[in-house]
Amino acid sequence: MLTCPVCQSPLARQDRQLRCDNNHSYDQAKQGYFNLLLNTAKKSKQPGDNAAMVQARSAFLNAGHYQSISDTINQLAIDQLLQNQTENVNVLDLGCGEGYYSDRLNLALNDHQIQHEFYGLDISKDAVKSATKRSKAIHWLVANANQAPFAKNSMALILNVFNRIMPNALANLCHPKGRVLIASAGAYHLQQLKEAIYENPRFVEFDAISTMAEYFEHEHRQTLDFTIKLDPNSTEHLIGMTPHAWRSAPNVQQGLLSQQQLELRVQINLDSFTLKPSALTAVDEEASESE
Ligand SMILES: C[S@@+](CC[C@H](N)C(=O)[O-])C[C@H]1O[C@@H](n2cnc3c(N)ncnc32)[C@H](O)[C@@H]1O
Ligand SMILES: [Zn+2]
Repeated sequence: MLTCPVCQSPLARQDRQLRCDNNHSYDQAKQGYFNLLLNTAKKSKQPGDNAAMVQARSAFLNAGHYQSISDTINQLAIDQLLQNQTENVNVLDLGCGEGYYSDRLNLALNDHQIQHEFYGLDISKDAVKSATKRSKAIHWLVANANQAPFAKNSMALILNVFNRIMPNALANLCHPKGRVLIASAGAYHLQQLKEAIYENPRFVEFDAISTMAEYFEHEHRQTLDFTIKLDPNSTEHLIGMTPHAWRSAPNVQQGLLSQQQLELRVQINLDSFTLKPSALTAVDEEASESE
């Protein structure tokens, strides 16, 4: 299932090591994850979210503010996997961060006796290290989503929660009968935060459907729209995990933190996609053109 990031041949597990036929080997870190990120695939020394952002995200998510998003993702995922009725499916959380959604989905799939292998992948070592504390049952990987170390079209379900969408990578990974579930911000997501930070805030929606359109058919959209009430602790965590907030002026941040209760609108689109049959060959052709 796992493939070598250097030569793309299958990786076999021997105790705490992964090794391919060409003798490239990868040791398991003491926390239990594997690092399959090649130095050449890194744009910076520490790609992805840094430790402070990871910690802020963990604290915010642990307070339960986004639990209904996770619950809805789980329900959609379970419905889709039960329709498929395939034995022991592969599930991937791409850009899993510190593992909140992966852990909760993995537990929900167990509750529904859906046999599966769960992979959580992120480019940030700090995020994956933190994720290992949530679950020992998930295969945690440090890797680049654009060069994800999995056999082609091997994932029955791919989660993509609040990450940049990489349609080509998703098409490469998605099983012909699989699903991709994308959670992305609606136009009015964190409306009051944007209003506090920007003089002329723009409320435009990120268009997940046309971003995916080359390779994927849009199947279903569910929008969640609700209000959360944050105490100053949670506001600080939200600022810490939201780049446009932590880059804002100190007086803006102080203003937000001085509110005993900050009411914020949360607006999330959950979209599910199926692979277009044409995508199975299109991705292959593109790969051979770029070789
Ligand atoms: C906004 S966070 C979302 C994390 C998690 N899905 C959540 O919602 O809690 C985006 C994540 O994508 C990761 N990331 C960014 N570029 C990546 C890439 N090329 N491959 C894998 N992960 C990447 C970051 O390290 C970060 O953890
Ligand atoms: Zn190899």
